[in-house]
Amino acid sequence: MMEQKFLPEVSTFRCIKCNRTFSISSGRMTCSCGGLLEIKHEWALLSLKTELKYYEHIPSGVWRFKPLIHPEISEKEIVMRGEGNTGLYNASQRILEYANCNNLLFKHEGENPTGSFKDRGMTVGVSEAKRLGMHTVICASTGNTSASLAAYASYAGIKAIVILPKEKVAFGKLSQAIAYGAKVYTVEGTFDLALQHVIDLATKDGRYLLNSINPWRIEGQKTIIFEMLENLKWEPPDWIVVPAGNLGNTSAFGKALKEAQELDLIKDIPKIIAVQAKGSEPFVNYWISGKYEPEHNPHTLATAINIGNPVSRPKALEALRFTNGIATSVSDQSILDAKAIIDSAGIGCEPASAATLAGIKKSVDEGMILASEKIVSILTGHLLKDPQIIIDYHQNQLENIDSTFANKINTYD
Ligand code: F0G
Repeated sequence: MMEQKFLPEVSTFRCIKCNRTFSISSGRMTCSCGGLLEIKHEWALLSLKTELKYYEHIPSGVWRFKPLIHPEISEKEIVMRGEGNTGLYNASQRILEYANCNNLLFKHEGENPTGSFKDRGMTVGVSEAKRLGMHTVICASTGNTSASLAAYASYAGIKAIVILPKEKVAFGKLSQAIAYGAKVYTVEGTFDLALQHVIDLATKDGRYLLNSINPWRIEGQKTIIFEMLENLKWEPPDWIVVPAGNLGNTSAFGKALKEAQELDLIKDIPKIIAVQAKGSEPFVNYWISGKYEPEHNPHTLATAINIGNPVSRPKALEALRFTNGIATSVSDQSILDAKAIIDSAGIGCEPASAATLAGIKKSVDEGMILASEKIVSILTGHLLKDPQIIIDYHQNQLENIDSTFANKINTYD
C-alpha cells in the first residue's frame, strides 16, 4: 500500500448534536454535550480519483476505499483480513414470486471473514485501536460484533473483552468469540444492559470501545454501499433494505449515500428501508409516533436484532430523512418463512438478515414499493451463524411458529 501524502487531520470528529469538533487523536466516543460523534472528512484536501486509484489493488473491500474511510492511518497500523468484496446475487424466481417483485438483488455480507458485515467496521475500529496504542478492546454484542472483535483483536495481538446477554446469543457466534480467544462475560438481561456495562468499563479503565457508537465502525460499514454502487456501475437501485438493531448500519448507509452524492459518484439517492422485528421495534415506533420510548423487554427469535434501546437512533433518523426512506417491522413468523425461502434458493442467511425479504414483501403488499422498482437487500450474516433455529423450524419445533416451508428430515428404512 502506498503511503499517504495528505496534510494531517484531513478527518475530524464532529458532534451531530452541537457541531463541536475534536481531533481524531483524542480517541473520543461522544461529545462533551453527550451527542454522538461522526467523522468529517475534508474532501477538498483529497484528489479523490487519484487517491482511490492507489488502493485499487488492495485485497479488502474496505481499504480499497481508504481515502473515503480513514485517509490518515498508515499502512503498518492497518489490521485487515480480506473483508468485503462480497457477492451480489439475483433473487431466484421463487423469491421474486414470494415477495411480489421483479428486480431484487442480495448483497451477501455473510461472506466476510467471520461471517457478518461487522468485519467491515471492525477492520477499521481495530486498526484505529492500534493507531491509538490501545491494549484492550471491548464490546457488548448480540453475537456477531463479538465474533468479529475477537477475531480482529487476536489477529492484531490486542486483548478482547466481550459482554453478551446470557442465553440470547446464537451458538455459531458464541463459539467464534470463545474460539478466537476473547474474554467472554455474560449478563442476565438484554443487549442494552450489556452495552451499558461496556460503556462504563471503557470510560473507567481506558479500554477501547468498539460498538457502533464508535464512529470508525460506521466508516468501515459505509463500504457496503460504496461497493454495491460500484458493482452496479454507480447506477443506484430505488431501495436499499437493511435489518435494524442498534442502527449502526442504517446510519452508515445514510452517511455513505450522502458522501457519494457530495463526491458526484451518484445523483439519485436510493431510499433506505430499516426493518426491525416485531417485539423489538423501538425505532419503528419512534419513526411512526415521533416519540422515543425504549423497549425494556425486547424479544424476537432473530437474536441479532433483539435490541430495545438502539444507540445510533439520531443518526439513523437522519439517514431515513435524507434518503426519504422508511422504518417498518415484521413478525418472527414472516422472518423465518422469508429465511426458508432465501435459504432454499441456495443463498442462505441468518434470521435477522431475512427480515429484509419479509420487509420487502410487506412493503410491496402495502404499495410502498412498486413491483417494478429495483431493490437491493443486505444479507447481514451467514446461514451457519444460527444452525439451531434451522433444525427447529424444519422439524416444526418452534413455539408459536408455523413451519410453512418445512423440509423435514426423513427416516430411511
Ligand atoms: N444483522 C445482523 C446479522 C446483526 O448481527 C446485526 C447487529 C444487525 C443486522 C443489525 O445491525 O445493529 O447496525 O442495526 N448485530 C449487533 C451485534 C448488535 O452485536 O452483533 P445494526
